[in-house]
Amino acid sequence: MRFGGLTAVRSVDFTVNSGEIVGLIGPNGAGKTTFFNCLTGLYIPTEGTVSYKGTVLPPKPHLVTQAGIARTFQNIRLFANMTVLENVLVGRHTRTKEGLWSALLRGPGFKKAEKASEDRAMELLEFIGLAHKRDHLARNLPYGEQRKLEIARALASEPGLLLLDEPTAGMNPQETRTTEELVFAIRDMGIAVLVIEHDMRFIFNLCDRVAVLVQGEKLVEGTSEVVQADERVVAAYLGEPFEGAPGEAEAAEVAAAESTTSNTKGEAQ
Ligand SMILES: Nc1ncnc2c1ncn2[C@@H]1O[C@H](COP(=O)(O)OP(=O)(O)OP(=O)(O)O)[C@@H](O)[C@H]1O
Ligand SMILES: [Mg+2]
Repeated sequence: MRFGGLTAVRSVDFTVNSGEIVGLIGPNGAGKTTFFNCLTGLYIPTEGTVSYKGTVLPPKPHLVTQAGIARTFQNIRLFANMTVLENVLVGRHTRTKEGLWSALLRGPGFKKAEKASEDRAMELLEFIGLAHKRDHLARNLPYGEQRKLEIARALASEPGLLLLDEPTAGMNPQETRTTEELVFAIRDMGIAVLVIEHDMRFIFNLCDRVAVLVQGEKLVEGTSEVVQADERVVAAYLGEPFEGAPGEAEAAEVAAAESTTSNTKGEAQ
């Protein structure tokens, strides 16, 4: 994907298999969101194709949704002045067959379809834990719940693949943990998940595989263990070993900081 002189995503070859949770990580500006935008038809890639279940997808968002790929956005995009339930119902429109005339006439077919849609939307709200807030306006929800509502709306299109762009951004540790459980539960429903996150603990706990984008290129792809141990990833992104004992340099830094602290304040930090 090129924007004028800037190549935001370059030759990224990437597959998500059914039943998998796959992570996409990389520094700010690496091209992660741009990659999602290419997958979902929001951007038309300068070169390359996106296939879903063996069929090349046209770069049109509604056709991509219809084919079975749903997403959430890094910057939450809810209908702020609609209720929680209405937001989920909007997500269902690609899956309802009733046409314009049927809706205008509000005949028995329409009413039945409307009821079925509402039942399904309520099921999804139960699933994400927001059923009790069905009639609240989306804008009045706390931030973490807005992120969850976005997930429910994406699920309402009955996807086979769900793309999550920083689902835990701005969440507290408790909310992050429940989101982790939620993603596992979504996978267990038979939906493959591709997730972008900067929270490495979240990513490495959750994902079967992780791909690392740096400056638009895929640097490494592998299991959490492989990616965490890869020196190029540590250098380009993680900056320090993620798990295990601190390295020598870090231990020296800690020791230096401790001695400074005890000299100036005489108390432990
Ligand atoms: N519509 C656009 N027009 C021009 N440049 C763009 C456009 N969208 C993205 N870019 C550029 O592409 C690069 C990749 O941006 P992108 O938002 O994909 O990064 P990211 O990996 O999602 O970063 P972050 O972790 O901060 O969300 C950046 O240099 C960005 O400025
Ligand atoms: Mg992004």
